[in-house]
Amino acid sequence: MKVFVTRKIPEAGLSLLEHEFTVDVFPHDRLPKKNEIIAGLADADGLLCLLTDPIDKDVIASAPRLRMIASYAVGYDNIDVAAATAHGILVSNTPGVLTDATAELAWALLFSAARRIPEGDQFCRQEKFTGWAPLLMVGQAISGKTLGIIGAGRIGTAMALKSKGFDMNVLYTDTQPNPTLERELNATLVSLPDLLHQADFVSVHVALSPSTHHLIGAPQLRMMKPNAVLINTSRGPIIDETALATALKEHWIFSAGLDVYEHEPQIPKTLRSLPNVVLAPHVGSATMDARSNMARMAAENMIAGLHGQLPPNCINPEAYRKKI
Ligand code: DGY
Repeated sequence: MKVFVTRKIPEAGLSLLEHEFTVDVFPHDRLPKKNEIIAGLADADGLLCLLTDPIDKDVIASAPRLRMIASYAVGYDNIDVAAATAHGILVSNTPGVLTDATAELAWALLFSAARRIPEGDQFCRQEKFTGWAPLLMVGQAISGKTLGIIGAGRIGTAMALKSKGFDMNVLYTDTQPNPTLERELNATLVSLPDLLHQADFVSVHVALSPSTHHLIGAPQLRMMKPNAVLINTSRGPIIDETALATALKEHWIFSAGLDVYEHEPQIPKTLRSLPNVVLAPHVGSATMDARSNMARMAAENMIAGLHGQLPPNCINPEAYRKKI
């Protein structure tokens, strides 16, 4: 059997795949175009793809032998799962192994945006630091403040739990109560408007879907406190980027820390020119540990799926049940 891999992934996963299958890795150090993915799938039984690959219904319909799609990511908004299911193709993702890495990056952005670290770094490099001053680079305090988590799933929960050392009041929104957060942090489930009105730090952790597209737009940004810091490590289109740029420029909120963008990899010039936003290049899961574990997990899903078993992290088990 043959597996097409759309970009070189860590050896931990590649070697597992190579042990079982003929593996064809997209040879260039860039994102493959849709027609290149289609070409790679001409005789492939399995596809190991990235979150940047558009695996839509055309790609799926064009692949005559495809039986398994193992995504090297936890978010799978780039894959038309319904179309895959209709074709009897199993789809898997990599949950859990990147939870801490992504929650850690959310905290790194929170600290950076609250305490203006990148701005201070630029200031020092440009030789503007002429001495300690009472009003130099004054930011926002974190300890004892209110943290608002939008979406208390795996990563949102990990982000909230890591607030323990900072003695924060934790609010969260979700479709259901989160007993861990309520037990461990005395966290309170509130409505989105209540969270936005009260939180000093707002961190977004929902998956992208039609119902979360532009969940944070101008009306929601207007609800936030002027000292508030907004963090997004989930998916760019959840925040209306034009509205966010206005909010930052006009100081409706204090600052933002972003790892994801609405039209990734493009980052609007307005955002790039603002000093009160910290920009990271979608590196939530970019630790050696997480990336190796993601590779291993994606490969294990692929091996199970192509050997006729239910992959451990299958998103559409109904496609498997249909087959047996
Ligand atoms: C994912 O896996 O969905 C993350 O966005 C990777 O950083």
